[in-house]
Order: sequence, then C-alpha cells, then structure tokens
Amino acid sequence: MTTMSEELTLMQAADRAAADYIAGVDSRRVFPDAETLERLDGFDEPLPQQGVDAAAIIDQLHTLGSPNTVASNGPNYFGFVLGAALPVAAAADRLALAWDQCASSWDGSPVADTLERTAARWLLDILDLPRDSAIGFGTSATACSMACLTAARRELLKRKGWDFDARGLDGAPRVRIVMSQAIHITLKRTARVLGFGMDIIDFAPCDAYNRVDPERLPPLDDMTILCLQAGEVNTGEFDPFAAIIPGAKAAGAWVHVDCAFGLWARAGSDAARTDGIELADSWTTDGHKWLNTPYDGAMAICRDGHALADAMQSDAPYVPAVWDAQKNLTLEFSRRPRGIAIWAALKGLGRDGVRDMVDRHCALARRIADGARAAGFEVLNRVVLNQVLMRARSDEQTQAVMPYVQASGRAWFGPAVWQGRPAFRISVSSWRTEETHADALVTLLEEALRATTS
Ligand SMILES: Cc1ncc(COP(=O)(O)O)c(C=O)c1O
Repeated sequence: MTTMSEELTLMQAADRAAADYIAGVDSRRVFPDAETLERLDGFDEPLPQQGVDAAAIIDQLHTLGSPNTVASNGPNYFGFVLGAALPVAAAADRLALAWDQCASSWDGSPVADTLERTAARWLLDILDLPRDSAIGFGTSATACSMACLTAARRELLKRKGWDFDARGLDGAPRVRIVMSQAIHITLKRTARVLGFGMDIIDFAPCDAYNRVDPERLPPLDDMTILCLQAGEVNTGEFDPFAAIIPGAKAAGAWVHVDCAFGLWARAGSDAARTDGIELADSWTTDGHKWLNTPYDGAMAICRDGHALADAMQSDAPYVPAVWDAQKNLTLEFSRRPRGIAIWAALKGLGRDGVRDMVDRHCALARRIADGARAAGFEVLNRVVLNQVLMRARSDEQTQAVMPYVQASGRAWFGPAVWQGRPAFRISVSSWRTEETHADALVTLLEEALRATTS
C-alpha cells in the first residue's frame, strides 16, 4: 500500500525527470544513436513476481527510456506532421491525470463535461464551422473519421427508410464511397474496416497538386459518401471545396473532409484557401498535430450532431446521459477527457496565438524551401502550407540524403514517394521551431548534399 507521502514523493520524482527531459529537448539527438538504442535491452526483464519499488521504476524509465525517445517534442523534428506539446496543454493533461476522470458524461465528471463543451464551442469559432455542430473528442483522426463515416452511412440509409441499427447492412440499399485518389491511408483503412473494400470505392482523380479535379469527379447521388481532404499529406494542398461541395450536397451526398492538420489553416491568415469546407457535413481534425496538444486528442465534428450521436449512442439503464454526452459522440465509452488539453491550448494561445503559430510554420516551410532550392534540391510542391516536398539531384541521392540527416541526430524527416519516384517531406509543426532551426536544417541539407555527391 502506497502512503500519501510516498505518492507525493513519487509524483515529484516523475516531475523532476520530466523537467530534466524537457530542459534538454532543444539540444538532444532527434533520434537515438545505435549505442543508446542498445540500452533498451535493459527493459528486457522477466515479469517480476513481487512489485518493484515505484521510485526505481521511474528512475529506470528516465535513465533508459528518456535517451531512447524520438525528440518530436523538440524544435528539430520535421517528420510526418507530429507537432510538439505546448507547455500549457501538457501541464493541463498532467493535472487531469491526477483527477483521473472517466469523462463519459456530466455524471462522470462535471468539470470535464464543462471544459469539453467550452473547447467544442471555441473550436467551431476559431475553425469557423457551423456553430451548432457537435464535436466528439476521440483518440485520433482515424477513430474520429470512423465515427463520422459510420454516422454518414447510417444517415444516408435512414433517409431511404432503412433502420441500420435494427437491420444492419444485410439487404440494405447500397451506400457508395467516393474518395480522393490522394486521400490519406487512414481514410482507406477506415473505409475498409467499415466494409467498403478498395475495389468498390470510386477514387476521384486528382490534379498535379493532388487536389480532386472537379471536372473528373465520379457521379454522386443521395447514397454517396464523398471524402475530400484539407492538407494533402505530401503537398499540404486543399481540395477545391467551393467547386465541389455545393454540387455534392445538391445531389444528396454526405461530404466528409479529412483535415487532420489542414483544418488549422482556417485559424491562420491564409484561411481563404479552405473556402467552402464549411459546407461539408463532417470533418475530422487532430489537436495532437498542428495545435500541438499531447497525444491523443482528435475531433469528430458533425454538422448534424444528432446524426453522430444516434450512430454512437451508448446509453444503458446504468449509464443514462444527455444525447450529446461525449460517450455518445465518440467510439470510446470510458474515456479520458482529452478535450481538456485542447481547451488549455486554445486558452493559452488565444485566437492570435493560434494564427501566429500557423502563419509562422507556413513561413518557415517557405524559408526551408527557398534555402533547399538554393542548395540544389528540387522542391516539388507549391508550399502552400507547412509541408515541403523535395528531392535531391537523383533518386539515389534522394535516398542517401534522408539517412544522412537521420543519422546526424540533428534533425529528422521521413520518406515520401512523389509521382512514382523517391522524395522526402519536411513538415514544420512544432511550436518550438524557430528560424534558427529552419536555417540549421538547410545547413544540414547542404552538408548532406555535399556528402552524398560522388
Ligand atoms: C492527412 C491525414 N489524415 C489523417 C491522419 C491520421 O491521423 P491520426 O494519426 O490522428 O489517426 C493523418 C496522420 O498522419 C494525416 O496526415
């Protein structure tokens, strides 16, 4: 039995270790070197028969674990679109962890319910989406897309008089999915899990920027779910929403937009790029990407809140709740109040702070693109957002540059394939990244180019 005083001592030890980690996050290797990775063997222990001293556990985590992290919470991580964790959001999560709330509904946690409702209201405001939409705070954009597409299919069937809840899909009218050819892999997975095999999906052809081409859009009708995207993962481009969504809605289709990171462009100065997105029926976005909240904080946003709530409904005699309780808007039943970190991030940054962060990341992406171009790289996208897609002078060199950078420990980014050839993608999405880090990355790229030129 742990005493209160032992518990407090333990929390202080964990906080000291966390503070020590954060203090070095700007300068630590972005990916551990081989020698450090070997120390992970220290975790290869048999399950202890008797519990081990808690302080020793935290100490082992810090000594063996901290050096073997990927410093995605630092300023030099440019992989995927991960984002770091804003201090206020991470601190709020720490306190919420102490609360240990089961935030299914008001009854589980009045404070969580209140904060998540406030966060939802602020999100609809800053993202300029229909103000009476419902927001479910889920674990990931993937899970939130799953909730939205489930609601979409159920709703289209309901409009045809089909009771999906009672009868399922057996004998149901056919619902089609049309999705961008360049849609993110997780939307394909979502479709697959929901029973839409890849061969029966209509993929909408895209233009040279990986945007859906409205002229070549497959026919839509009132049994179609159309999936578009804001922030294509390679180019950061947006589908032409204003040209597509009104026609799709007139045909009776349900329009879902995957905007895991791209929706945040609406909070920046260049929000006009997303015009028309507000006409869709549902959207998914992450806090843990561009808003820089800790994992796992995502949002399923649905114009018709009841469509989402009816699809996710999970009331039982022992857990009644209002229709839009979080357990009725997400796939989770027991859940942590992940909206609290999102609330804290929005409050800590304010409208101006979010705009400044988004604008700064876009400006840094352009700065990196200019520097890389000057160094001899080919920049493959228009850099409309925070993504820079590039390649070196040959495919071989492109494939050699990336491991060079990764092995340096000074920065990290990952591979891409663009028009069938190797490329790599740099994403600026950490609140800690400043011009000095962008310039250091360009210097490293120049060095990598020299080192790989034969
Ligand atoms: C465009 C896009 N959509 C969806 C996802 C999936 O997001 P999550 O990892 O939160 O499920 C990602 C993640 O990288 C993404 O970049």
